[in-house]
Amino acid sequence: MDHPLVLGIETSCDDTACALLDGAGRVLSSVVSSQLAAHRPYGGVVPEIASREHLANWPAVSGEALERAGVLLRDVEVVAATRGPGLVGALLVGLSIGKAIAFAGGRPFHAVHHLEGHLYSPFLRPPGDPAPPELPPSQFVGLVLSGGHSSLFAVEDGAVSTLAETRDDAIGEVFDKVGKRLGLPYPQGPKVDELAERGTPGAQRFPVSRFGETLDFSYSGLKSQALLEIQRLERTLGPIDLGAGEDVPQPVLDLLAAFRASAAGQVLDRLERLHERRPFGLLAVSGGAAANRLLRRELPVWAGRHGVDLRLVPLVYSGDNAAMIAHAALLRHRRGIADDPFAAEAESRIPL
Ligand code: KG4
Ligand code: ZN
Repeated sequence: MDHPLVLGIETSCDDTACALLDGAGRVLSSVVSSQLAAHRPYGGVVPEIASREHLANWPAVSGEALERAGVLLRDVEVVAATRGPGLVGALLVGLSIGKAIAFAGGRPFHAVHHLEGHLYSPFLRPPGDPAPPELPPSQFVGLVLSGGHSSLFAVEDGAVSTLAETRDDAIGEVFDKVGKRLGLPYPQGPKVDELAERGTPGAQRFPVSRFGETLDFSYSGLKSQALLEIQRLERTLGPIDLGAGEDVPQPVLDLLAAFRASAAGQVLDRLERLHERRPFGLLAVSGGAAANRLLRRELPVWAGRHGVDLRLVPLVYSGDNAAMIAHAALLRHRRGIADDPFAAEAESRIPL
């Protein structure tokens, strides 16, 4: 049991994911099946459809994960599934499957917090990297940027405390909403980022929001400013619908570049002020919005200037995946922790 094979399951939202990790924390396989096509006609994730899709997708997703890893279900020694936060119906599918596999095989079970998965994901190695994964150090600062969270955490000897979180919208969420207003299909974040690359830096500016003296994030002000600016542009350009695949006018690209610069600027502002208040040596950045191109350029520069060791989550593990769930479970398993499969419950909102 020192080097257990871990099976991870993640079904908190609209991705059905299964992964296998060896006892050293190497990802043997990580399969993520997107439900985008099923939700697209509705412009967002429909909870009831997500649950049904998870049930329908699980046999193929888990079968592929086992096959790619070259193992059988009976070889699995530790089972993990996300318990929340997320859509309860969607969580229940993965959690129930995990409980059943663990119970049937008499295996230790872990009901993992989704954010704990993201938090430690920067320590996973990208596929093809032969080096064994790095053990997360006993102390570091974790920055989780996703569709539901913009949060800073302090990790100290396995204990996690929240340093800052968003007061309103999360960073990924505002990328999605601004993109949706422009007619882009869900999830709009990556596309907005791509278009922002073609904007003229500095052609337009949005201020960086602060929430008083706190380090908390706030993105709804920036969202409103961007939406108002789109409205203003439409008065001269006419209705903007980028979903129609037409050429994107330069002022729209410039607007998106300014929006993205402010969103990323807020992240750097919080890091700068946190580092002034309580200097830290290692920063681990994760979550779907950690795929943002501007952030992936600016974070290493900031870290270099402050002598901070940076772990940026490998792109493949930035969005929701099951490797991060199996990984968080492995770290708990090594500390001798396990959960009672009968007591674990799915919950839509749970603090880390
Ligand atoms: O971690 P994740 O897959 O799911 C949650 O736990 O929320 O994050 C998804 C979020 C979405 O809002 C998506 O638009 C955003 O991450 N995202 C991005 C980029 N890629 C994904 N936001 C900004 N720039 C990107 N390149
Ligand atoms: Zn997530």
